Amino acid sequence: MPITTLEPTTSHKRLRMFAAITAVIAVLQTIVAVIMIAVDNEMLLHAHEGLGYLFAAAAIATAVPAVIWGRLSRGTGLIGHAVGLAVAGVVQLLLGLFFAPEDGAPLGAMMYVHMVLGLLILGGAVFLYVIARRQPIIVTNVDGTPRSACRTESAGCSPKFTLPWNA
Ligand code: HEM
Repeated sequence: MPITTLEPTTSHKRLRMFAAITAVIAVLQTIVAVIMIAVDNEMLLHAHEGLGYLFAAAAIATAVPAVIWGRLSRGTGLIGHAVGLAVAGVVQLLLGLFFAPEDGAPLGAMMYVHMVLGLLILGGAVFLYVIARRQPIIVTNVDGTPRSACRTESAGCSPKFTLPWNA
């Protein structure tokens, strides 16, 4: 049964680009955070704060094409993942802004929550990029005509349009 990969739509192209930017910021943020914890440096703290704002903005911007493309492709998991990451990004930013210790004070319990959430966000951002890269495919009859007679799997009939996350 021939399978053709479809050209990505505008929202899918945007989603892939924004998800890549979000994942890169998450990787940079984690590297900066680890160095910041190891060496107490004012400049790294400012870099971490700036990257924090950038990450939250990028995650929110990524959620927009994810919702549009997710609706088109019936990818509810993709929508949930992108919106969840945006919410987590904002929560993480607020945790950092409100619970970062004063000069020289030890880290409070909420900052340990911040660190664990930061690592989960890193994984989530990379995973979002991976699922955003998935290409939609179309399944046709052997002669190339669309398999339009059915929408669900049944005897002698398979869905006309299928996506990796629906397969
Ligand atoms: C997207 C992820 C993250 C965001 C949005 C974020 C955001 C922030 C913000 C806004 C601050 C306050 C900075 C300031 O007071 O100037 C902060 C502090 C901090 N963050 Fe993050 N962060 C993230 C990930 C991480 C990760 C992965 C770790 C560690 C593994 C981490 C560890 C810390 C620590 C230890 C502080 C306190 C620094 C200090 O005042 O001594 N953060 N974060």
